[in-house]
Amino acid sequence: MDTPNLTRNRPMKIGVIGLGHVGLPTSAALAHWGHKVVGTDTDLEKITTLNEGRLPFFEPQLAELVHRGLTEGNLTITEDVNEVVAGADVVFLCVGTPPKDDGDADLRALEQSTRTVAAHATGHVVVVCKSTVPAGTCDNIARTLSRFNGGLTFDVVSNPEFMREGSAVEDSLKPSRIVVGVATESAASAMRDVYRKAIEAGTPFMQTDIRSAELAKHASNAFLATKISYANALARICEAIGADVTAVVDIMGGDPRIGRSFLDAGLGYGGFCFPKDLACFEQVAAKAGYDFGLLREVAAINAEAIDTVVEHVKEAVWNLDGKRIALLGLSFKPGTSDIRSSPSIALANRLLEQGADIIGYDPAAATNVRTNTRLTVVDDAYEALKDAHCVIIGTDWPQFIDFDWNVIHDRMAHPVVVDARNLLDASMMVAAGFTYIPVGKR
Ligand code: UGA
Repeated sequence: MDTPNLTRNRPMKIGVIGLGHVGLPTSAALAHWGHKVVGTDTDLEKITTLNEGRLPFFEPQLAELVHRGLTEGNLTITEDVNEVVAGADVVFLCVGTPPKDDGDADLRALEQSTRTVAAHATGHVVVVCKSTVPAGTCDNIARTLSRFNGGLTFDVVSNPEFMREGSAVEDSLKPSRIVVGVATESAASAMRDVYRKAIEAGTPFMQTDIRSAELAKHASNAFLATKISYANALARICEAIGADVTAVVDIMGGDPRIGRSFLDAGLGYGGFCFPKDLACFEQVAAKAGYDFGLLREVAAINAEAIDTVVEHVKEAVWNLDGKRIALLGLSFKPGTSDIRSSPSIALANRLLEQGADIIGYDPAAATNVRTNTRLTVVDDAYEALKDAHCVIIGTDWPQFIDFDWNVIHDRMAHPVVVDARNLLDASMMVAAGFTYIPVGKR
C-alpha cells in the first residue's frame, strides 16, 4: 500500500463510457470534485433523459448531483464519443459486464468501449476499468488499445467500485476505500489526482498490482454473499431447534472480528451484482485450476432461502390455489427501483406457479415491475392488503414498519404475516392479532 503523494492540484479532463448504476454516480462525483467530466452511453435515450434533467433509474440524491454538474458546467453528457475521449487525461470504462449462460462475464461492451478509446484518444491517456471483470481483463484492454492504435501511449488501471445501489451518491463521495491496481507509478499518481478530494477527506488509497485489484472486487462481493448465506443456513437450524437467528447473529456480530453487517437472514441476496459476480468468480477460479465449491454452496443456500419462505406461506394458508397474497416489497433491496434478480420477484413467481393470486406493492419499483414482469402491482399498499389471506414482507423497506397494522388487520381476510425479512416487531404484530411467521425463529 502506498502513502498518497499529492503533487498536482489541477482539475483533469475525464471521459466516462457507460452511464449506468456505476458510471453515472462516478461521473457526478468526479464533476463534484472539480474535474471536467464528459460522459456517454450507447443508450441514446438515456442521454436524452439525463440532459432533460431526469434519471433513467431511481437513486437517492443522484438527480441533484447530476443536475448540479450539468448546470455548473463540470459535467457534460453527450453521444459524441470523440468529445468524451479526445484530449482526456483519464477515461473510465463503466460499461455493463452481464453474465453469460455459463456464468462467465460478457465482456463485449468492454471491448467495444476500449476500441472507442483507441480510436479517439489524443495524447497519453489513463484507461481505468471500473466495470466488474474477471482478473486478467486489463491485459486484454491494454492489448486492444495497442492493436487498434499502435501510436497511442497509455496506462491501464483497475479501479473496482464498491458502491451500493440506494446509497450510490454517499458511497461515491465518501468511499470506504479507493482501490487502484497499477503497473506504473505515473498511473498511480494520476489516480491520486483523480481522487485527490476524497483522499484529502480521509479515504484510504489502496495501491496494488492490477490483478489483485481486479480479484479484490469479486472476492469482496463473494465474501459478503457468503456471510448472508451463512446467516440463512443458520436460520434453518434455528427454526429446527427453536432458537432465534437474530439473537444468534447479534451475539456473533458483537465480536469485531465477525461484524454484525450482512448477517441478516431472510429471502437471500439478489441484485445485478452478487449472483453474477459469484458465478463469474467461480469461473475465474476454475480457469485458474481451483474448484471453489464454497461459492456453489453459497448460491445453493441462497436459493433455499426462497424455498423456505414458500413452505412458510403454505403452512400459513395451506393450499396456495386461489389464495390472495399481498407481497410488500418487490425491489431486490430497499432504497432502489432495481428488480434484477430480486428474491421477492422470484418468490412471487414460485407462488404464482402454484396457483396463488399475488398482488404486489413497492414504494419505488412498481413501474419497473409492470414493464418487465406479468405481476399485478397496485400503487396503494392498503389496496394490495384488502381481503388478502396472507401478507408477505418481500423487501425490507423501512416504511412498512410504520404502516397502520391495526387497520390492515381489519382489512385482511385472514391476519397472517409471513415476514421474509424479519422486518417487523414480532410482539407488536402478535399483540395486533396477527399470526406472525418470521424467518429463523419460532
Ligand atoms: C453490492 C455490494 O454491497 C457493493 O459493495 C458492490 O459495489 C455492488 O454489489 C456491486 O458489485 O456493484 P448492491 O448490489 O447494491 O451492492 O447490494 P447490497 O446492499 O450489497 O445487497 C445485496 C443483497 O443482499 C440484497 O438483495 C440484500 O437484500 C441482501 N442482503 C444484504 C441480505 O439478504 N442480508 C444482509 O444481511 C444484507
